[in-house]
Amino acid sequence: MTASIAFNDFRREPEALQLALLAAAERVIRSGWWVLGREVQAFEQAWALHCGTAHAVGVANGLDAIEIGLRALGIGPGDEVITTPVTAYATTLAIQRCGALPVFADIDPSTACLATESVATCIGPATRAVLPVHLYGRAADLDGLEELCRSHGLHLVEDCAQAHGARHLDRPVGSVGRCAAWSFYPTKNLGAIGDAGALTTADAELARVARSLRNYGQSDRYHHDLAGMNSRLDELQAALLSERLGWLDAWTHRRREIAGHYRSRIHHPLLTPMAEPQDPSSHVHHLYVLRTPQREWVQAQLAEQGVSTLIHYPLPCTRQKALAGHRIAPGGIPHALEHCRTCFSLPIHPFLQDDEVKRVIDACNELPDAPA
Ligand SMILES: Cc1ncc(COP(=O)(O)O)c(C=O)c1O
Repeated sequence: MTASIAFNDFRREPEALQLALLAAAERVIRSGWWVLGREVQAFEQAWALHCGTAHAVGVANGLDAIEIGLRALGIGPGDEVITTPVTAYATTLAIQRCGALPVFADIDPSTACLATESVATCIGPATRAVLPVHLYGRAADLDGLEELCRSHGLHLVEDCAQAHGARHLDRPVGSVGRCAAWSFYPTKNLGAIGDAGALTTADAELARVARSLRNYGQSDRYHHDLAGMNSRLDELQAALLSERLGWLDAWTHRRREIAGHYRSRIHHPLLTPMAEPQDPSSHVHHLYVLRTPQREWVQAQLAEQGVSTLIHYPLPCTRQKALAGHRIAPGGIPHALEHCRTCFSLPIHPFLQDDEVKRVIDACNELPDAPA
């Protein structure tokens, strides 16, 4: 019996990287300074450079990064933020937590990212921001959304949690909106060994407020001008992220290679791929998603062949019990509902070996006839 193909497998990280991580951990432990120090500053600088922005503010996780971004823009009770129903619930939760009302536009069925035309129909007098997600690693329609936001005086806030290194034409994602939120949860394309996140922005004042909000709203030691939170990034995670950042481009290259094999070699009438991006640099393939009307059955068949799959996401945010007040696009969200009914994800982590990629492809192509 051959081993199952896991969705992620961090034990396979290269030995050279593991040694560098151990050395970084020792450096931090021996430094005697463990929260918001030199390692955080160094990672913030490196990450800002990578994202083509002037500032990066390290925070505790991606959820906080979104909340801090929205709050730094002054968004709160009485305001509305337009977003996508097909995302990790954290995107919506951040809007809820800052006291604003989430408004859900529909997605473009070919990419599963926000449909700009649907966003336009959601704009009302209380709308303050649009929060697109670069879902599965693919840059959302930033040109269209940027223009829409400019013409309506709205803030564009990017959720980049799944899109480290993706570009929109000549600009990295995370450098287009007023600010952008990043997650470095271990499974992300750039991950820590635990929770971590960051906010990027070109705006020095916004960065200053975000730095204050992440640290109890302090303006100076023991002076609290804002009701902030504790969302500090620790030195250990920052040092480990700095080491891993050096590998990100190679991992992205490998993800693109695997996605290319899946795209060109999976041919089964029951499996429909997402649209291919015109510009390969716009997609970093955090996830490889297919759609099928027979999802449960397909997943069970693949599991029998030792191929792990997951669903991103089985429910749109509109169907989560935690959701309180919200609005939905006047035309509804039919594409989002259909996507959540039919999507599933194949393993695409950068440590998959060629024979495993082939096994995934064969398992997909050799699916037996579906039950009637
Ligand atoms: C699109 C998106 N936004 C936000 C988050 C939240 O990030 P974190 O888990 O670091 O809070 C995630 C992580 O799952 C995500 O995928």
